Amino acid sequence: MLRDAVDHLACPVCRGGLALGDDAVRCARGHSFDVARQGYVSLLTGSAAPGTADTAAMVEARARFLGAGHFAAVTAGLRELASAPGGPRVVLDAGAGTGHHLAATLGERDVGIALDVSKHALRRAARAHPRIGAVVADVWRELPVKDAVADVLLNVFAPRNGPEFARVLRPGGVLIVVTPTPRHLSPLVERLGLLSVDEAKARRVEEALGAHFAEAGHQVREAEMRLDHRAVATVAGMGPSAWHTDPAALAEEITRLPDPIAVNLSCRISLFRKIT
Ligand SMILES: C[S@@+](CC[C@H](N)C(=O)[O-])C[C@H]1O[C@@H](n2cnc3c(N)ncnc32)[C@H](O)[C@@H]1O
Ligand SMILES: [Zn+2]
Repeated sequence: MLRDAVDHLACPVCRGGLALGDDAVRCARGHSFDVARQGYVSLLTGSAAPGTADTAAMVEARARFLGAGHFAAVTAGLRELASAPGGPRVVLDAGAGTGHHLAATLGERDVGIALDVSKHALRRAARAHPRIGAVVADVWRELPVKDAVADVLLNVFAPRNGPEFARVLRPGGVLIVVTPTPRHLSPLVERLGLLSVDEAKARRVEEALGAHFAEAGHQVREAEMRLDHRAVATVAGMGPSAWHTDPAALAEEITRLPDPIAVNLSCRISLFRKIT
């Protein structure tokens, strides 16, 4: 709920602290942001949201696929890397989507903050866990989050912002980044012409975060998913390829695949520490 998260948020206009009223979040200088009926708040100001926000259809596909447990290996890896002894933590998820991974990562009394630019995604994130606050924000801009409040920052198949991630993480905090490896979703990538991941992806992620973070370790999680044609259509529709493929041509290609088909899940989960 926003009530748990609001203390850690910052006004996107003046950077002051925010408080939750009946139906809005406000700072002391009077900047006010309506809380949507579905429980999320938009702290996006100025120019329009980037065109990369997941659409309602993409969010629906993602929710269905994650709900079926196909990415359980990734969720388990995140939970393992993000777990730490100690008191309640603040776990921020940048590009949180439906909040599925964030909800699974929260320990007892932890507070989660789901940031995403898609309101369709945040409607779900707001309901994914009782202690998640869902906030519309653009990861490529200044985050509406106070300095040094996050103990853990998750970034799962989503855009990154090294300087802002470094600002909002507290000293000793960890950034956990999940990226697909070139084997992810094979053979669907080849058979359906989905966007592929190149070998240099992990290096590029590290370079992009490099000035602020150093990789402290990583694990590669792999699993075989047995997907029927409906699940194949779902996984194709929830990823970045959804922007580029013609749905009719894709449906036609899917009919030519074995049903079910064995598909690789292959992700790199990297743990980064802030360079202080
Ligand atoms: C591939 S989905 C991953 C969602 C979630 N992390 C998961 O693994 O289920 C990418 C997410 O990033 C969000 N996104 C894209 N561009 C963004 C931006 N500039 N700022 C914040 N979120 C963004 C999309 O709306 C989408 O929910
Ligand atoms: Zn303000």
